[in-house]
Amino acid sequence: MKAPPRIDNSIQTSTQLMVLLLQLLLLLRLSAAPTAAGDAQTNLLNLGCSQYNATKPALFPAVLNATFSDLYSQLNSSSSPLFATSDRPSGPVYSLFLCRDYLSPPDCLLCLSSAVSSLRKCGLANGARAVLDGCFLRYETAPFSDQTTLPGNTAVCGNRTSASAAAAAAAEGLMSDLAEAVPRIGGYFAAAERGGGAAVYGIAQCARTVSESGCAGCLAVALGNVKGCPPAAEGRAVDAGCFMRYSDADFFGGYKTVDLSTFLHSGGSSHKGAIIGGAVGGFGGLLLLCLLVFLWIRSSRKSEKARRGDILGATELQGPVNFHYKDLKSATKNFSEENKLGEGGFGDVYKGVLETGKVVAVKKMAIAQTSRAKADFQSEVKLISNVHHRNLVRLLGCSSKGPDLLLVYEYMANRSLDRFLYGEQRGTLNWKQRFDIIVGMARGLAYLHHEFHVCVIHRDIKSSNILLDDDFQPKVADFGLARLMPSDQSHLSTKFAGTLGYTAPEYAIHGQLSEKVDTYSYGVVVLEIITGRKTNDMRLEPETQYLLEWAWRLYENGDSMKLIDESLNLEECNPEELKRVIQIALLCTQSTVAARPTMSEVVVSLLTRAEPVMHPTRPTFIDATSRVHASSSTSTGSSSMSNATVSITQFSAR
Ligand SMILES: *[C@@H]1O[C@H](CO)[C@@H](O)[C@H](O)[C@H]1NC(C)=O
Ligand SMILES: *[C@@H]1O[C@H](CO)[C@@H](O)[C@H](O)[C@H]1NC(C)=O
Ligand SMILES: *[C@@H]1O[C@H](CO)[C@@H](O)[C@H](O)[C@H]1NC(C)=O
Ligand SMILES: *[C@@H]1O[C@H](CO)[C@@H](O)[C@H](O)[C@H]1NC(C)=O
Repeated sequence: MKAPPRIDNSIQTSTQLMVLLLQLLLLLRLSAAPTAAGDAQTNLLNLGCSQYNATKPALFPAVLNATFSDLYSQLNSSSSPLFATSDRPSGPVYSLFLCRDYLSPPDCLLCLSSAVSSLRKCGLANGARAVLDGCFLRYETAPFSDQTTLPGNTAVCGNRTSASAAAAAAAEGLMSDLAEAVPRIGGYFAAAERGGGAAVYGIAQCARTVSESGCAGCLAVALGNVKGCPPAAEGRAVDAGCFMRYSDADFFGGYKTVDLSTFLHSGGSSHKGAIIGGAVGGFGGLLLLCLLVFLWIRSSRKSEKARRGDILGATELQGPVNFHYKDLKSATKNFSEENKLGEGGFGDVYKGVLETGKVVAVKKMAIAQTSRAKADFQSEVKLISNVHHRNLVRLLGCSSKGPDLLLVYEYMANRSLDRFLYGEQRGTLNWKQRFDIIVGMARGLAYLHHEFHVCVIHRDIKSSNILLDDDFQPKVADFGLARLMPSDQSHLSTKFAGTLGYTAPEYAIHGQLSEKVDTYSYGVVVLEIITGRKTNDMRLEPETQYLLEWAWRLYENGDSMKLIDESLNLEECNPEELKRVIQIALLCTQSTVAARPTMSEVVVSLLTRAEPVMHPTRPTFIDATSRVHASSSTSTGSSSMSNATVSITQFSAR
């Protein structure tokens, strides 16, 4: 796929470059061709600079300038006005530039110069990329032209909300058809339009240097990202090898649209994901799994290369980064008590300050370091580091060479939700913030279950695992780690299922795993958010100690408004919305697994005004008191078994 590197050591002087730029400007002035979209679309969506400087800082700026002028002159030649690459092994600097197909050649040149001035902000960084509405520019010190999806891929959503729910649905449909069709279209670009009254316009594009399967894999990730945008009227997904965008406005200015139906399989756009640790669902799932394995192998080859060469973490967005154990040790002041943020089922978490000044959260995994565990760790880290969603905590990297396995996550200033519900900050969240948290959590989980390549089941959703960013947007933490528990007996481990009151009964008792296990725990957390209390609180009156039981009793008596946290100002709540949310929470916590909604259904119910059609049926409760008895008589079996022994009592009908 890659073009043979051109060995061209001559470096343009800055004067030559200036002349070149002047000529270009002149050219632009002269070519009065009206542009399709009417502008060069130089709105900058995403800029990433490597955290490492080039190894030859004296030479680097000149090679970089030469690279940019390579790109200018390729675009100026009429044979390829929208796409250019440059390989300069003397730097080394490798680069790629790409315009959206609807840009006119002069607009494409303008977009390049805007992208170049953005990348100049990265100084001597040995890698950088800029995504603009109209174009994409990237350089690295190692070849990358076959790369598709990389950490750092994300959604950029507009801040206007679309007029109708129909428009949001049309946008999703259009994006998923584009994701399927574009890998099969020559040039990897398509623009399309959908809908009558509320029209939606969309495009998808892959870099021309990637393979068809690489393009499909990249767009699958992009689709997952962009689906987080509706009901915003505009959304985009940015990544290293592909781009998607939809809008209710015609942003491609009448550029020719494509009839996508001729490129779609008759089966439509329903992809079946494989369930981790479970059976692979059908042929489609198998294909996706193969693709994923292929991507893993490729990315692991790449990181081998990275370790050998000087391109480690070439772009900050590229990962997972392998950190040195000693760096993380000093970042966390030798894992000091003072830096400790919390204790989780998988190990303790510490605040760390890296040498660059970046603040991170470091999780010290509490698992035995067998070679099997290490291998599992590596593959899990690769998987998790590809999960990108604004409601999921980002994994930045790991360390697997030292005495402990460490995971490095982005740091969340506001820490966890439980502190705001019944901890030191209780009563400080208003209803709007709480509702946004309820929706955001559901979106994050829906992504893990239905939109990522494989279905990732969290298994330990609880309010201390929901972190809040500066704007109190929720981010789910600790996903993907459950499989690292020894021999996947996580449901039998008290450390894990010890969060009684959150765990679905079929999983706690029989180890029956499905994504509905997360739906159940989600419902419990939503009730905590509404009531501002813990799921189990022995300090309360006996009849209210178990939140779920109490919520049910009130609901059946038509008294569910009594659940609402006293610290909430009822005047700023919408009572209909509150009722709907309570009903959804109860639907989620039903004993019958099939009766619980999927997380995607939860998102829809939360965002549409309609009442959920189903009415919740009374659940079975885990009786916490008998659990305490069971764990105090550890005569049978291993202690972890007996700790997990639970009994059920049917909630008696009145
Ligand atoms: C761009 O192309 C035109 C003709 O195709 C040529 O006259 C001009 O010198 C070129 N400009 C640059 C900067 O290469
Ligand atoms: C990279 O180079 C810049 C400019 O010379 C300098 O300010 C910065 O500290 C360097 N960064 C690193 C990580 O060496
Ligand atoms: C590279 O180009 C920039 C902008 O045109 C200029 O300021 C800089 O001096 C050039 N550097 C070299 C080494 O040519
Ligand atoms: C929406 O975003 C644009 C640009 O990003 C900004 O100028 C505008 O103020 C924003 N509008 C609202 C309502 O936040």
